[in-house]
Amino acid sequence: MIHIPKTEYSRRRKALMAQMEPNSIAILPAAAVAIRNRDVEHVYRQDSDFQYLSGFPEPQAVIVLMPGREHGEYLLFCRERNAERELWDGLRAGQEGAIRDYGADDAFPITDIDDILPGLIEGRDRVYSAMGSNPEFDRHLMEWINVIRSKAHLGAQPPNEFVALDHLLHDMRLYKSAAEVKVMREAARISAQAHIRAMQASRPGLHEFSLEAELDYEFRKGGAKMPAYGSIVAAGRNSCILHYQQNDALLKDGDLVLIDAGCEIDCYASDITRTWPVNGKFSPEQKAIYELVLAAQEAAFAEIAPNKHWNQAHEATVRVITAGLVRLGLLEGGVDELIASEAYKAFYMHRAGHWLGMDVHDVGEYKVGGEWRVLEVGMALTVEPGIYISPDNQQVAKKWRGIGVRIEDDVVVTKQGCEILTGGVPKSVAEIEALMAAARVQAS
Ligand code: GLY
Ligand code: MN
Ligand code: MN
Repeated sequence: MIHIPKTEYSRRRKALMAQMEPNSIAILPAAAVAIRNRDVEHVYRQDSDFQYLSGFPEPQAVIVLMPGREHGEYLLFCRERNAERELWDGLRAGQEGAIRDYGADDAFPITDIDDILPGLIEGRDRVYSAMGSNPEFDRHLMEWINVIRSKAHLGAQPPNEFVALDHLLHDMRLYKSAAEVKVMREAARISAQAHIRAMQASRPGLHEFSLEAELDYEFRKGGAKMPAYGSIVAAGRNSCILHYQQNDALLKDGDLVLIDAGCEIDCYASDITRTWPVNGKFSPEQKAIYELVLAAQEAAFAEIAPNKHWNQAHEATVRVITAGLVRLGLLEGGVDELIASEAYKAFYMHRAGHWLGMDVHDVGEYKVGGEWRVLEVGMALTVEPGIYISPDNQQVAKKWRGIGVRIEDDVVVTKQGCEILTGGVPKSVAEIEALMAAARVQAS
């Protein structure tokens, strides 16, 4: 299995600590276990920031980073080994494992945190934490601070500055290393295979969930623990619902199906959308809209390179889509005016993409000092223009209504431009029709 190497976690911790102010401490909790119903838990997914700095996969853990501390800078609080619990729920690293396998300089039982952590914070001037994202943990942190404050008359020195860790950490996460790109390529490869399998299985009379099952099969077979987000399998008019999740409608002859799905590998997401005809053959209207979205995506790729700013790719998609909608008679007027008045938003109401990484909508600022961010090598993003013609849109001829198309790929900015990670799924009308026709011949 392709994964982030241990050395990279250590490099990340050092890089973060190098940016922290002198005499400071950073404290990050693991994700909490979420209850699904009664005593059934949701599949555990580590918090992305916690994972980024540790690779430690367990709940009930807290990372403490103390730059410059003589007896070790990286401390981990985690669950103790427990033969009975491990018999029921699976192995735990314990404190020995935290040191041996996860590079901690020292490790303590999580049950001792209230006794130990105030002593570690005491005397440090500044505390970095993910303030606001975990109210329960924020409350604990204030309790630990208050323990120190209550001993001020004995000479204890509580910290005076509390800083959100996000800015430093999320800027680091925005730039993907070679190891991260390798993992993202693998997630993309498996997801591409999943889309191909769903295309090959597509038939009128099946259901949206039938295709979701094909996706899930490839994800798990590829070693992915779970999808990076809830898969969208939207046929017919459902393709016009941007975050459709029901996935239970019938696949009808003559309809398109839009699939937006990607798996997660070692906590790195992929995010692919393809749209194809359920029966394997695009109608003239479906083809016209599809090729327009594809042209918009091509125009966007050309705007992704170092020194181009974040919004250029989006602007390129808006121009191509607006001009195309005028050409097809779906919008009337001059292209510049229609862009200025945002008339295209009746058909294209989302942005051309987002940062991609450990979170599908990944962290990192889109603007810096009020200006769109300039792209740099290692930034990963999606490119996902779409056109959605509402089934209820009375302004357009009936033949267009209910067509929804999105095409989404994942890219990483390179020195020359960008690398498309998800190029493994057919995309032109001819390629899609050929793949689906071949699958039909094989099945008959
Ligand atoms: N899958 C959600 C998105 O494309 O942003
Ligand atoms: Mn996306
Ligand atoms: Mn998507």
